[in-house]
Amino acid sequence: MTSSFYFYTMNNQPIGIFDSGVGGTSIWKEIHSLLPNEDTIYLADSKNAPYGHKSQKEIQSLSIKNTEKLIALGSKIIVVACNTATTNAIDFLRKNYDLPFIGIEPAIKPAALKTKTKQIGILATKGTLQSSLFTKTSELYANQINVIEVIGEGLVPIVENNLINNPETLMLLQKFLDPMIKANIDYLVLGCSHYPYLIPQIKKLLPENVEIIDSGRAVARQTKAVLENNNLLNNKNQKPNCQFFTNLNSSTLNSLLKPYESEISISYLTF
Ligand code: DGL
Repeated sequence: MTSSFYFYTMNNQPIGIFDSGVGGTSIWKEIHSLLPNEDTIYLADSKNAPYGHKSQKEIQSLSIKNTEKLIALGSKIIVVACNTATTNAIDFLRKNYDLPFIGIEPAIKPAALKTKTKQIGILATKGTLQSSLFTKTSELYANQINVIEVIGEGLVPIVENNLINNPETLMLLQKFLDPMIKANIDYLVLGCSHYPYLIPQIKKLLPENVEIIDSGRAVARQTKAVLENNNLLNNKNQKPNCQFFTNLNSSTLNSLLKPYESEISISYLTF
């Protein structure tokens, strides 16, 4: 794909990450924990969130915009930290840009392999659940399993606006999880990078035997593997530079990233 010169010179460039908003910070946390020497640039496209109800064409053009910004900022690899953008746009991005892309998809496969009740739940956006990539994965791995798909309508704005602890959030989650609980699921797949922030609330509602799966750790492992295979790991021996940019306001980012505040920067950027 690219010349060895590209790989040679790109090692110490940042990992670029984008999401429709703040949710992909759940992926950044996994990447930062697995690759603590890597510089990162995160774009929170909160101005255009949620992506989940947009057409594939719109999701693709927003993904192009974010990708081009991350390339302009020097990214050596791009992590699409958004299930909706991955399932609707990553094929296009891979065909059209000359750098490695890592995507995130709902973890249907591990849930389908492990379930004992043969009933699994998946909570994701409309854009993810209706994508052909998701349909293909689901047909491939879960054709012997009953998959209860629920659109998490309204959950992305709740996380974007930091309303996670509101009583209404619990009521909304109850409505989404009820049919899954009734069907006796033993695995719940979180198919949106915003949803891991709702796990404490979800746990209040699910029976104890139900295991929650999200794909954050797997994405971090895949990012590491691709960097290793392409000789793109950072070889500097200094503290990483982790920058977060939002095109709306930074209050939710500040709150979700509070434990990291001494090691990161958060600022406003037009993109
Ligand atoms: N974090 C995005 C995802 O994983 C949220 C999608 C949206 O903005 O609706 O799908």
